[in-house]
Amino acid sequence: MNKIFQIAIDGPSGAGKSTIAKRVAKELAIDYIDTGAMYRAVGLKMLRNGIPMEENEVLQKMLDETDVDFENERVYLDGEDVSDLIRTQEISKQASDCSAFAIVRNKLVELQQNMGKRKSVIMDGRDIGTVVLKDAEYKYYLTATPEERAMRRFKELQAKGSGETYEQVLEDVNKRDYNDMHRAVTPLRQAEDAVLIDSTNMTIDEVVEFIISNIK
Ligand code: DC
Repeated sequence: MNKIFQIAIDGPSGAGKSTIAKRVAKELAIDYIDTGAMYRAVGLKMLRNGIPMEENEVLQKMLDETDVDFENERVYLDGEDVSDLIRTQEISKQASDCSAFAIVRNKLVELQQNMGKRKSVIMDGRDIGTVVLKDAEYKYYLTATPEERAMRRFKELQAKGSGETYEQVLEDVNKRDYNDMHRAVTPLRQAEDAVLIDSTNMTIDEVVEFIISNIK
């Protein structure tokens, strides 16, 4: 397969987008771009520099001097590998908050569109099929019931020894769904031409196979 193509995967938190996208990228030998990691990296920089959300000019100046890039599935903020630092609860919240600002989205969407121009990519996020890669050949909307997504997350947390109850995890999933789907700027929604995959009763292998079987 020599022609350049793009695969867009959107969906709510905990649907398995990044696990699936990584596997598909490996099997097709194309690049995986985790756009959530980019919002997390910007959130980290804001926290480190004490940049307040509401000060647009200060935030814009910071964004003008910010570079986010990937190499071997590691994310680099201004040249520093921040892949592990961005996986905390604090940064999850900061990423979610800063992703509601148009100036942050404009900056990251531009970087993402450039990344998808010259090579085949699979990109996952919330606005890939609707905004970032509007013309992608392949678009999927990956979801599962909130109860199933909460159960998957609950099991992961239990394995790590965390004491959260299933009810707490479910409440968090519902809250994040609400925020993602109701923010004013490009809220999460299924693109009209995206294929819906409800993974509630599917294994990871089944979803990966389904996506690859569609790629011509
Ligand atoms: O997928 P994630 O949890 O790493 O994403 C972190 C946050 O960034 C999440 O709250 C939603 C936001 N996000 C977004 O608004 N648009 C994207 N394309 C990707 C993530």
